[in-house]
Amino acid sequence: MKNILLEQIKSLTRVDLPLITNLSNSSAILNQLENINWCGFYLVKNKMLYLGPFQGEPACTSIPFGKGVCGTAAKEKRTIIVDDVNKFDGHIACSSLSKSEIVVPIIKDNEVVALIDIDSPIYSRFSKEEKTLQEIAEYLSNLF
Ligand code: SME
Repeated sequence: MKNILLEQIKSLTRVDLPLITNLSNSSAILNQLENINWCGFYLVKNKMLYLGPFQGEPACTSIPFGKGVCGTAAKEKRTIIVDDVNKFDGHIACSSLSKSEIVVPIIKDNEVVALIDIDSPIYSRFSKEEKTLQEIAEYLSNLF
């Protein structure tokens, strides 16, 4: 199946643009997904995650590697899908609306450079999204 979001992201991003520009438009494109209440990026610096371009309510500004869903995905270099955030030990609640979450690492030269994070106000929202977001993460890694 064609990855429409990836096509849109490709059409609005370029390697010669600043990262913040590319990720800002990418967050707006991801925000077209249905049944989500937050989407955006966390950027890695010195084993910490810092809030990047996003759409939604204000969110936590920094997360250490290993903490929360984002920090765990960064530490373990893997996508994490949480069907019920209340059941994820150490989940960092940025909004009481969020019920499920997906975090997909963006990996360059075998290091996590950023994460895509998306929250949903409904439980078990994300399983079908994984491949689409994985492809987007792989494309975006070329822009870092
Ligand atoms: N829930 C995340 C924190 C980031 S917000 O969802 C935007 C976590 O547990 O890492």
